[in-house]
Amino acid sequence: MAQVRHPMRQRVVKDRNTIRFSNSDRGIRAAVSFLRKSGLVAFPTETVYGLGADARDERAVAGIYRAKGRPAYNPLIVHTADAQAGIRLIDLPDAGVKAAEMFWPGPLTLVAPVRMDSGIAEVCRAGAPTLAVRVPAHPLARALLQAFSGPLAAPSANMSGHVSPTTADHVMEELTGRIDGVLDGGSCDVGLESTILGFDPDGTPRLLRPGGVPVEILEAALGTIRSGIVTEDAAPTAPGQLSSHYAPGAVVRLNADKPAAGEAWLGFGAGPEIYPTVALNLSASGDLGEAAKNLFACLRQLDEWMDGSGTIAIAPIPCTGLGQAINDRLRRAAAPRS
Ligand code: TXA
Ligand code: MG
Repeated sequence: MAQVRHPMRQRVVKDRNTIRFSNSDRGIRAAVSFLRKSGLVAFPTETVYGLGADARDERAVAGIYRAKGRPAYNPLIVHTADAQAGIRLIDLPDAGVKAAEMFWPGPLTLVAPVRMDSGIAEVCRAGAPTLAVRVPAHPLARALLQAFSGPLAAPSANMSGHVSPTTADHVMEELTGRIDGVLDGGSCDVGLESTILGFDPDGTPRLLRPGGVPVEILEAALGTIRSGIVTEDAAPTAPGQLSSHYAPGAVVRLNADKPAAGEAWLGFGAGPEIYPTVALNLSASGDLGEAAKNLFACLRQLDEWMDGSGTIAIAPIPCTGLGQAINDRLRRAAAPRS
């Protein structure tokens, strides 16, 4: 497979023996013992695999940035075992407490001013006064957090700017030699990262990233959600929301009605009359949940078949429900690369 072009990749040293931990008490104990020694262990969540480190340990968290080639200005999400532990880390307005009570555990991240006594290493926030917190619903993530009995900082377990991993194999393909291990929990159910909500000074929620909880569902529960997704490259005030992100090596062409000669095809619902040899369907029945779950694995597979070059043409996806997050990730995958 051709090298996927990533400038940070060259600078990362492969100096670790990466272990695959099984989905068992023994696997969890082994993962915890590495985390207690400032190690880096990837684990499954219901959204995507996260690359975990002790969120109270400056050195461990610095290792996450190094392993991923992640820019130092891009802060991390801290994961806790339950909503009470999560709520204690940040000063949430009323709507935030309500969101935590209704949607945790689940694919929702809340961003609010960090509490002075949170004990979270500053490097997790990358200089921001706010902290992003999430309580994952995946049973193995919860078992790991409980056994570790502390907060875990965890960005998606991929090289910075690349497509998020939804299986332990994806993690191994990209991070072998750079991390201590991956806890193998099979494939992720949701398949897209969490929805991120921040709060304006008046306490009104603001959508920072569409994701696993559709915004319509949040609005029905919380009332108005302002929208504030920033997609410009030079926008460190909205860290991580870079326009080119979640990017495969191949060029991506969106809202295509059919593939042009030589293009690979990623369909949704009923396909075009003629399929190219290199083709996959996100959901033949047009189900957005199924499409979300398949999205990143399909992009990886097509990219591999295309040897990280050429063009992937992608069928239009409706922009409702999970379709909003799918289209957000596809736009980033299609954005010009820096
Ligand atoms: O589903 C998910 O959210 C997964 C799983 C592993 O939990 N995590 C994930 O992490 O997607 P990551 O690092 O790939 O994306 C987190 C996003 C980044 O865009 C980051 O900039 C943003 O959250 N973020 C983190 N802290 C923030 C803060 N204080 N203010 C604004 N954005 C923040
Ligand atoms: Mg990520």
